[in-house]
Amino acid sequence: MTDISKQDRVLIFDTTLRDGEQSPGATMTHDEKIEIAEMLDEMGVDIIEAGFPIASEGDFTAVRDIAKNSRNSRICGLARANFADIDRCWDAVKHAELNRIHTFIGTSELHRAIPNLTMDEMADKIHETVSHARNLCEDVQWSPMDATRTEWDYLCRVIEIAIKAGASTINIPDTVGYTAPMESAELIKKLIETVPGADDVIFATHCHNDLGMATANSLAAVAGGARQIECTINGLGERAGNTALEEVVMALKVRNDIMPWDTGIDTTKLMAISRRVATVSGFPVQFNKAIVGKNAFAHESGIHQDGMLKNKETFEIMRPEDVGLSGTSLPLGKHSGRAALRDKLEQLGFEVGDNQLKDVFVRFKDLADRKKEVFDDDLIALMRTGEDAQ
Ligand code: KIV
Ligand code: ZN
Repeated sequence: MTDISKQDRVLIFDTTLRDGEQSPGATMTHDEKIEIAEMLDEMGVDIIEAGFPIASEGDFTAVRDIAKNSRNSRICGLARANFADIDRCWDAVKHAELNRIHTFIGTSELHRAIPNLTMDEMADKIHETVSHARNLCEDVQWSPMDATRTEWDYLCRVIEIAIKAGASTINIPDTVGYTAPMESAELIKKLIETVPGADDVIFATHCHNDLGMATANSLAAVAGGARQIECTINGLGERAGNTALEEVVMALKVRNDIMPWDTGIDTTKLMAISRRVATVSGFPVQFNKAIVGKNAFAHESGIHQDGMLKNKETFEIMRPEDVGLSGTSLPLGKHSGRAALRDKLEQLGFEVGDNQLKDVFVRFKDLADRKKEVFDDDLIALMRTGEDAQ
């Protein structure tokens, strides 16, 4: 038997078009979804969760057309624990050469109370629905929603049932972003050690960011043995969002020395897809967002700019080109120093001697105190006024 948890490849499961779109106000059109799915496929995402086919006619059509259009990625749809959802999901994803049905039910005490099922009744339902999905599709993923708040014994019991019924991926959702990194690692490790049959399936981690720990929790889960990370572009998703794809992928790339697990993602495509998702979802990316924020590779202060001009590694742990940017940016503002000003003036075609630089620098600081950022045109004007005065 292969122990999947020992393997060094982590599958990337993107749910921008399902969990991401569940973000209030983030609805995308059919054509936008097709376009994003193409970009995800091109970038090397292993599994694309394209939507929730029973949710609406539009969701069904989008999942079906993404499935028809797919090239390399496996196309997955979401279904609740009932036959109608599962059948509708299959009707949409079956058009892809590689497909998956993802079915789920809330297993914690709070979630069991909603359909008002006893533990035994829910266990039977899980057996029936996973078996039904497996009869339709070779690749079935099952999720105990709110797993991180589900009683340990019950969680082990229902996972064992889902594996026996034919699920090949067991996803462990931290639905409300409640877990913490040490707990996330320990939970996956203990499940793999305890549940019969666990060695033969892939454990996935699905984290929400309510406490800002989704990325850390996902990486910890991988350290515990998970081999699929569920994530979204820009961390789009319900409430505070899901794990951000760009963050886990770059963390695994940059710190491969201590997290030796590879993804198949072409990271040079990250910036383009981030911008496109921001546009179509209407959710702008915050300036200081890790990896894809406008300021993620920008340095304004004098000490930082001077360091960057001498050696980029002084203040950058990854190359901007690796995420699809053309280079570092050194915006000029009131914290900037002479080295960056001289560098910028030279790029604009001005040769400045030490004395002239001293004079321009004083006028530049005066302007920077009044403006948030000093742009190329401001500098050109500054140089021209200086020439007129001479
Ligand atoms: O957060 C969650 O629990 C989910 C499930 C449907 C997997 O998104
Ligand atoms: Zn979720």
